[in-house]
Amino acid sequence: MKILGVDVGGSGIKGAIVDTETGELLTERVRIQTPQPATPEAVGLTLRQLVQQHDWNGPVGIGFPAAIQHGIARTAANIDSAFIGLSVADYFSEQTGCPCFVANDADVAGMAEMRFGAGKDHRGVVLIVTIGTGLGTAFFTNGQLLPNTELGHIYLKNGMEAEHYASEAVRDAEGLKWKQWGERFNRYLTTMEALFWPDLVILGGGASAKLEKYAAQITVRAPVVAASFLNQAGIVGAALYSESQLPR
Ligand code: BGC
Repeated sequence: MKILGVDVGGSGIKGAIVDTETGELLTERVRIQTPQPATPEAVGLTLRQLVQQHDWNGPVGIGFPAAIQHGIARTAANIDSAFIGLSVADYFSEQTGCPCFVANDADVAGMAEMRFGAGKDHRGVVLIVTIGTGLGTAFFTNGQLLPNTELGHIYLKNGMEAEHYASEAVRDAEGLKWKQWGERFNRYLTTMEALFWPDLVILGGGASAKLEKYAAQITVRAPVVAASFLNQAGIVGAALYSESQLPR
Protein backbone atom coordinates (compact mmCIF):
# COMPACT_ATOMS: atom_id res chain seq x y z
CA MET A 1 0.00 0.00 0.00
CA LYS A 2 1.15 3.58 -0.65
CA ILE A 3 1.06 5.98 2.29
CA LEU A 4 2.47 9.46 2.83
CA GLY A 5 4.92 9.09 5.71
CA VAL A 6 5.91 12.22 7.62
CA ASP A 7 8.52 12.77 10.30
CA VAL A 8 7.93 15.91 12.36
CA GLY A 9 11.22 16.96 13.93
CA GLY A 10 12.38 19.92 15.98
CA SER A 11 14.15 21.45 12.96
CA GLY A 12 12.62 19.82 9.86
CA ILE A 13 9.37 18.24 8.74
CA LYS A 14 10.18 15.51 6.22
CA GLY A 15 7.88 13.44 4.06
CA ALA A 16 7.73 10.95 1.19
CA ILE A 17 5.33 8.42 -0.25
CA VAL A 18 6.24 5.00 1.13
CA ASP A 19 5.52 1.53 -0.20
CA THR A 20 4.53 -0.22 3.04
CA GLU A 21 5.08 -3.65 1.47
CA THR A 22 8.80 -3.05 1.04
CA GLY A 23 9.60 0.04 3.13
CA GLU A 24 10.86 1.83 0.02
CA LEU A 25 10.47 5.56 -0.54
CA LEU A 26 8.60 5.97 -3.81
CA THR A 27 9.24 9.69 -4.05
CA GLU A 28 12.15 11.94 -3.25
CA ARG A 29 12.16 13.02 0.40
CA VAL A 30 10.78 16.56 0.83
CA ARG A 31 12.00 18.61 3.80
CA ILE A 32 10.39 21.80 5.06
CA GLN A 33 11.82 23.79 7.95
CA THR A 34 9.80 23.30 11.14
CA PRO A 35 7.98 26.60 11.78
CA GLN A 36 9.03 28.49 14.89
CA PRO A 37 7.22 28.56 17.19
CA ALA A 38 5.98 25.07 16.26
CA THR A 39 2.36 25.74 17.23
CA PRO A 40 -0.40 23.29 16.21
CA GLU A 41 -1.62 25.77 13.60
CA ALA A 42 1.82 26.37 12.08
CA VAL A 43 2.71 22.67 12.00
CA GLY A 44 -0.74 21.89 10.57
CA LEU A 45 -0.14 24.39 7.75
CA THR A 46 3.23 22.84 6.96
CA LEU A 47 1.63 19.40 6.83
CA ARG A 48 -1.00 20.75 4.48
CA GLN A 49 1.77 22.10 2.27
CA LEU A 50 3.47 18.65 2.25
CA VAL A 51 0.19 16.95 1.36
CA GLN A 52 -0.40 19.41 -1.48
CA GLN A 53 3.15 19.03 -2.78
CA HIS A 54 2.54 15.30 -3.04
CA ASP A 55 -0.88 15.85 -4.59
CA TRP A 56 -2.06 13.46 -1.91
CA ASN A 57 -5.48 12.59 -0.54
CA GLY A 58 -4.83 9.20 1.06
CA PRO A 59 -3.80 8.26 4.58
CA VAL A 60 -0.94 10.13 6.23
CA GLY A 61 1.26 8.57 8.91
CA ILE A 62 3.00 11.05 11.19
CA GLY A 63 5.87 10.46 13.60
CA PHE A 64 5.64 13.22 16.18
CA PRO A 65 8.22 14.30 18.80
CA ALA A 66 6.00 13.79 21.86
CA ALA A 67 4.39 11.04 23.91
CA ILE A 68 1.18 10.30 22.02
CA GLN A 69 -1.38 8.47 24.11
CA HIS A 70 -4.28 7.28 21.98
CA GLY A 71 -3.85 10.18 19.56
CA ILE A 72 -3.38 12.83 22.26
CA ALA A 73 -0.05 14.62 22.81
CA ARG A 74 1.07 14.44 26.44
CA THR A 75 4.47 16.12 26.27
CA ALA A 76 6.08 18.93 24.25
CA ALA A 77 9.83 19.13 24.85
CA ASN A 78 10.81 20.43 21.42
CA ILE A 79 7.51 21.73 20.06
CA ASP A 80 5.04 24.32 21.27
CA SER A 81 3.37 23.51 24.58
CA ALA A 82 -0.02 24.25 23.01
CA PHE A 83 0.15 20.67 21.71
CA ILE A 84 -0.26 19.21 25.19
CA GLY A 85 -3.70 17.67 25.55
CA LEU A 86 -4.49 18.13 21.86
CA SER A 87 -5.86 15.24 19.83
CA VAL A 88 -3.16 15.67 17.22
CA ALA A 89 -4.45 12.99 14.87
CA ASP A 90 -7.89 14.65 14.67
CA TYR A 91 -6.40 18.11 14.44
CA PHE A 92 -4.02 17.25 11.59
CA SER A 93 -6.78 15.34 9.77
CA GLU A 94 -8.91 18.50 9.80
CA GLN A 95 -5.99 20.70 8.72
CA THR A 96 -4.89 18.50 5.84
CA GLY A 97 -8.21 16.98 4.76
CA CYS A 98 -6.52 13.54 4.83
CA PRO A 99 -6.93 10.83 7.48
CA CYS A 100 -3.87 11.31 9.73
CA PHE A 101 -2.45 8.75 12.16
CA VAL A 102 0.05 10.00 14.71
CA ALA A 103 2.49 8.19 17.00
CA ASN A 104 5.75 9.02 18.74
CA ASP A 105 8.60 9.60 16.27
CA ALA A 106 11.08 7.20 17.89
CA ASP A 107 8.42 4.50 18.22
CA VAL A 108 7.63 4.64 14.51
CA ALA A 109 11.33 4.73 13.55
CA GLY A 110 11.66 1.58 15.64
CA MET A 111 8.75 -0.03 13.81
CA ALA A 112 10.52 0.49 10.48
CA GLU A 113 13.75 -1.00 11.79
CA MET A 114 12.04 -4.00 13.40
CA ARG A 115 10.06 -4.77 10.26
CA PHE A 116 12.63 -4.19 7.51
CA GLY A 117 15.87 -2.97 9.04
CA ALA A 118 18.53 -3.63 11.65
CA GLY A 119 16.06 -5.21 14.10
CA LYS A 120 14.37 -7.51 11.61
CA ASP A 121 13.47 -10.87 13.19
CA HIS A 122 15.28 -9.89 16.37
CA ARG A 123 13.91 -11.59 19.44
CA GLY A 124 14.95 -10.24 22.83
CA VAL A 125 15.16 -6.62 23.95
CA VAL A 126 15.93 -3.99 21.33
CA LEU A 127 16.46 -0.32 22.17
CA ILE A 128 16.21 2.27 19.41
CA VAL A 129 17.65 5.70 20.13
CA THR A 130 16.96 8.53 17.67
CA ILE A 131 19.47 11.35 17.85
CA GLY A 132 18.21 14.76 16.74
CA THR A 133 16.93 17.92 18.40
CA GLY A 134 16.06 15.61 21.29
CA LEU A 135 16.87 12.01 22.15
CA GLY A 136 14.00 9.66 21.36
CA THR A 137 13.71 6.06 22.50
CA ALA A 138 11.69 2.98 21.55
CA PHE A 139 11.77 -0.39 23.26
CA PHE A 140 10.84 -3.70 21.70
CA THR A 141 10.79 -7.06 23.35
CA ASN A 142 10.25 -10.08 21.11
CA GLY A 143 9.16 -7.64 18.42
CA GLN A 144 6.50 -6.04 20.64
CA LEU A 145 6.70 -2.27 21.24
CA LEU A 146 6.37 -0.69 24.67
CA PRO A 147 5.10 2.72 23.43
CA ASN A 148 6.02 6.21 24.61
CA THR A 149 9.19 5.52 26.55
CA GLU A 150 10.60 9.02 27.09
CA LEU A 151 14.10 8.00 28.08
CA GLY A 152 15.82 10.98 26.52
CA HIS A 153 14.63 12.82 29.59
CA ILE A 154 16.32 10.73 32.24
CA TYR A 155 18.89 12.47 34.41
CA LEU A 156 22.44 11.26 34.19
CA LYS A 157 24.76 11.01 37.19
CA ASN A 158 26.18 14.44 36.33
CA GLY A 159 22.72 15.89 37.08
CA MET A 160 21.95 16.67 33.43
CA GLU A 161 18.95 15.62 31.44
CA ALA A 162 20.26 13.23 28.77
CA GLU A 163 18.91 15.14 25.77
CA HIS A 164 20.40 18.38 27.07
CA TYR A 165 23.79 16.66 27.21
CA ALA A 166 24.09 14.26 24.29
CA SER A 167 21.64 15.17 21.51
CA GLU A 168 22.61 16.19 17.98
CA ALA A 169 21.39 19.71 18.75
CA VAL A 170 23.78 19.93 21.70
CA ARG A 171 26.68 18.64 19.57
CA ASP A 172 25.96 21.42 17.08
CA ALA A 173 25.37 24.16 19.63
CA GLU A 174 28.53 23.38 21.60
CA GLY A 175 30.61 22.58 18.51
CA LEU A 176 31.64 19.22 20.00
CA LYS A 177 34.03 16.97 18.08
CA TRP A 178 32.64 13.51 17.34
CA LYS A 179 34.96 11.98 19.93
CA GLN A 180 33.82 14.39 22.64
CA TRP A 181 30.19 13.92 21.76
CA GLY A 182 30.71 10.14 21.52
CA GLU A 183 31.95 10.09 25.11
CA ARG A 184 28.81 11.90 26.21
CA PHE A 185 26.57 9.65 24.19
CA ASN A 186 28.31 6.59 25.59
CA ARG A 187 27.59 7.87 29.08
CA TYR A 188 23.94 7.89 28.11
CA LEU A 189 24.07 4.40 26.60
CA THR A 190 25.86 2.93 29.62
CA THR A 191 23.10 4.38 31.83
CA MET A 192 20.48 2.80 29.57
CA GLU A 193 22.35 -0.49 29.69
CA ALA A 194 22.60 -0.47 33.47
CA LEU A 195 18.84 0.03 33.68
CA PHE A 196 17.42 -2.08 30.84
CA TRP A 197 20.08 -4.48 29.48
CA PRO A 198 19.09 -4.36 25.82
CA ASP A 199 20.38 -7.15 23.55
CA LEU A 200 20.74 -4.75 20.62
CA VAL A 201 20.89 -0.97 20.29
CA ILE A 202 19.89 0.68 17.01
CA LEU A 203 20.74 4.33 16.39
CA GLY A 204 18.56 6.57 14.22
CA GLY A 205 18.53 10.26 13.35
CA GLY A 206 21.26 12.39 11.81
CA ALA A 207 24.18 11.02 13.85
CA SER A 208 23.38 7.41 12.90
CA ALA A 209 25.07 7.93 9.52
CA LYS A 210 28.30 8.97 11.30
CA LEU A 211 28.58 6.04 13.69
CA GLU A 212 32.11 5.21 12.53
CA LYS A 213 33.25 8.61 13.84
CA TYR A 214 32.34 7.78 17.45
CA ALA A 215 32.16 3.96 17.49
CA ALA A 216 35.48 3.86 19.37
CA GLN A 217 33.92 5.72 22.29
CA ILE A 218 31.04 3.25 22.69
CA THR A 219 31.69 0.70 25.44
CA VAL A 220 28.33 -0.96 26.09
CA ARG A 221 28.11 -4.77 25.88
CA ALA A 222 25.20 -4.83 23.46
CA PRO A 223 26.00 -4.41 19.76
CA VAL A 224 25.32 -0.82 18.68
CA VAL A 225 24.39 -0.47 15.01
CA ALA A 226 23.09 2.27 12.73
CA ALA A 227 19.48 2.11 11.61
CA SER A 228 19.31 0.55 8.13
CA PHE A 229 17.07 3.45 7.11
CA LEU A 230 19.38 5.95 8.88
CA ASN A 231 17.38 9.15 9.35
CA GLN A 232 14.59 7.99 7.02
CA ALA A 233 13.37 5.37 9.50
CA GLY A 234 10.86 7.91 10.87
CA ILE A 235 9.20 8.46 7.49
CA VAL A 236 8.98 4.76 6.68
CA GLY A 237 7.78 3.86 10.18
CA ALA A 238 5.13 6.59 10.17
CA ALA A 239 3.66 5.03 7.03
CA LEU A 240 3.78 1.54 8.58
CA TYR A 241 2.03 2.82 11.71
CA SER A 242 -0.67 4.46 9.63
CA GLU A 243 -1.26 1.23 7.73
CA SER A 244 -1.60 -0.70 11.00
CA GLN A 245 -4.37 1.68 12.10
CA LEU A 246 -6.46 1.52 8.93
CA PRO A 247 -9.64 -0.54 9.05
CA ARG A 248 -9.16 -3.86 7.22
C1 BGC B 1 10.50 13.93 23.12
C2 BGC B 1 10.21 12.54 22.60
C3 BGC B 1 10.79 12.38 21.21
C4 BGC B 1 12.26 12.76 21.19
C5 BGC B 1 12.83 12.72 19.79
C6 BGC B 1 11.99 14.20 23.04
O1 BGC B 1 12.26 15.49 23.48
O2 BGC B 1 10.06 14.08 24.46
O3 BGC B 1 8.82 12.31 22.58
O4 BGC B 1 10.64 11.04 20.80
O5 BGC B 1 12.44 14.06 21.70
O6 BGC B 1 12.20 13.59 18.95
